[in-house]
Amino acid sequence: MAERRDVVIIGAGAAGMMCAIEAGRRGRRVLVLDHAKAPGEKIRISGGGRCNFTNIHAGPKNFLSANPHFAKSALARYTPRDFLDLVERHRIAWHEKTLGQLFCDNSAKDIIAMLLAEMKAAGVELRLSTAIGDIDHDGTSFRISTEQGAIEAASLVVATGGKSIPKMGATGFAYRIAEQFGLPVIETRAGLVPLMLDPATLAAHEGLPGIAVDVAARHGKTAFWEAALFTHRGLSGPAILQISSYWREGEEIGLHIRPDLDFAAIIAAARRQNGRQAVQTVLAEHIPKKLAQLVVTDLGIDGPLAELSGKRIDALVQRLRDWRFRPPASEGYRTAEVTLGGVDTAALDSRSMAAKAVPGLYFIGEAVDVTGWLGGYNFQWAWASGHAAGQEA
Ligand code: FDA
Repeated sequence: MAERRDVVIIGAGAAGMMCAIEAGRRGRRVLVLDHAKAPGEKIRISGGGRCNFTNIHAGPKNFLSANPHFAKSALARYTPRDFLDLVERHRIAWHEKTLGQLFCDNSAKDIIAMLLAEMKAAGVELRLSTAIGDIDHDGTSFRISTEQGAIEAASLVVATGGKSIPKMGATGFAYRIAEQFGLPVIETRAGLVPLMLDPATLAAHEGLPGIAVDVAARHGKTAFWEAALFTHRGLSGPAILQISSYWREGEEIGLHIRPDLDFAAIIAAARRQNGRQAVQTVLAEHIPKKLAQLVVTDLGIDGPLAELSGKRIDALVQRLRDWRFRPPASEGYRTAEVTLGGVDTAALDSRSMAAKAVPGLYFIGEAVDVTGWLGGYNFQWAWASGHAAGQEA
């Protein structure tokens, strides 16, 4: 005899736990299954251990998806303010860092404890260290096989996230289930991920690893103005992670170094004041010294400012405005914060996250083809999509 529940949720991450709370509050008998030993492991490590749990500016424009309209309904019905109310009810101290990013003052573990307390209050049962076997559907209910026996439920919510950080238990489970039930999956790739540089470029950048500078990182018409970091493998830092989600293998990105400054005007003024100084000395007042040196050496610029031709200065200013890189690859799922692509939103109801063709089957969170920018947006999607499914499952 199989156990029976109203709702089985596979995945005790951000989306699965939020969905469980909402469904449990509606009086549904909810069981959450996860193969991991602990719930919310990605919450625990997020935001450097302080969890950037939402972004007060989160809106549909901050998400990538084959259908940019899909996320609107869920995001509108569960807002950053709604999650913040929950955080405040649990007396979790928080602060805004930059760009609307909200973090815990103490620890990301406070968010996990809050979700577990809410699940308990809603009568939700959580079963960890549970490997999931076959899933069958007879038209009215799902049968989920586990090592400890089978469970039957009218609703099945798949909340197993994406492929990022396999070391932490990430799997392609959601895509497999989607395919089993005939739902299309948009090709997945690593997002919010450092970009590699080829060995020759890295060799030319010797001395730069560890250096950070404010840039506008550009790909096509998309640009992010944040810090970039040179590493031993290539490029990282928030601006690079953001633009990586728009970039595809083999394509170029452009870096505008210190977009707040007019280097043409700075160099012209320095030349008038003291034509004997070297241009890298002038640049080093505004960007890290090693970076100033590298740019100048790379362009073969030498000698005092007064002797530099207009053409040389133009080339230098242009390099700082649009420094092109063609990364051969990203670091991949090993270090990616998210997975782009996923269960095709065309197959899902945007109000409830239900599979249109399979009554009772839901996909939420990162498993779905909705991916946020860096800065708390991905958790907001997990909360909002989990909340949406929890209202109906
Ligand atoms: P999530 O991955 O959280 O949960 C999926 C759950 O399913 C896991 O518990 C997993 O064990 C389980 N599971 C997977 N396969 C299974 C299987 N086959 N059987 C059973 N269980 C299975 N976002 C943000 O907004 N702010 C931030 O600060 C950060 N920081 C951050 C740091 C790092 C290092 C990473 C990797 C990611 C972030 N993110 C983030 C992204 C954010 O963590 C991510 O988008 C959400 O956790 C997605 O929530 P989900 O619930 O969809 O999946």
